[in-house]
Amino acid sequence: MPTGDTLHPFIELYCRLGEGLWGALPSSRLALQERVADIARYQTMFIGFPVWGTTAPSIIRSFLSQHDLSGKTLVPFITHGGYGTGSSQDVVAQHAGRARLLDGFVKQCDQERETIAEVTQWLGGVQVSR
Ligand SMILES: Cc1cc2nc3c(=O)[nH]c(=O)nc-3n(C[C@H](O)[C@H](O)[C@H](O)COP(=O)(O)O)c2cc1C
Repeated sequence: MPTGDTLHPFIELYCRLGEGLWGALPSSRLALQERVADIARYQTMFIGFPVWGTTAPSIIRSFLSQHDLSGKTLVPFITHGGYGTGSSQDVVAQHAGRARLLDGFVKQCDQERETIAEVTQWLGGVQVSR
């Protein structure tokens, strides 16, 4: 794992949490409890996940590598906590097999809630008659 010299302490904390509890790091490989039995039915798959420890959660790697995605179109949508997508998009590409990978949608979490709070606060201070 990268150390504090190269990693923001916040992300390092997340890495440690992920390593210990959620299997966020590439080194931890989670087994799938179930596979999508009839995956051949699906031509296009949207795959959504949060960034953990600057990458895609281990279970996403497991899901991608343990299904035959040949010929499918894969559309990622990714949320992060403010530090960007890290290596997650590369990880998806590496594990996508022979799928056609489209550019994903990326969103920092909490932006909607922050926007609502800011706009509400701003509106509260606007001097107009009601
Ligand atoms: C174990 C763990 C590791 C995380 N690592 C990162 C990270 O490296 N960079 C980042 O920007 N956000 C990180 N986050 C924040 C998540 O990406 C953020 O909470 C998520 O995208 C929002 O989706 P959620 O509402 O499902 O949590 C981490 C969250 C957890 C729980």
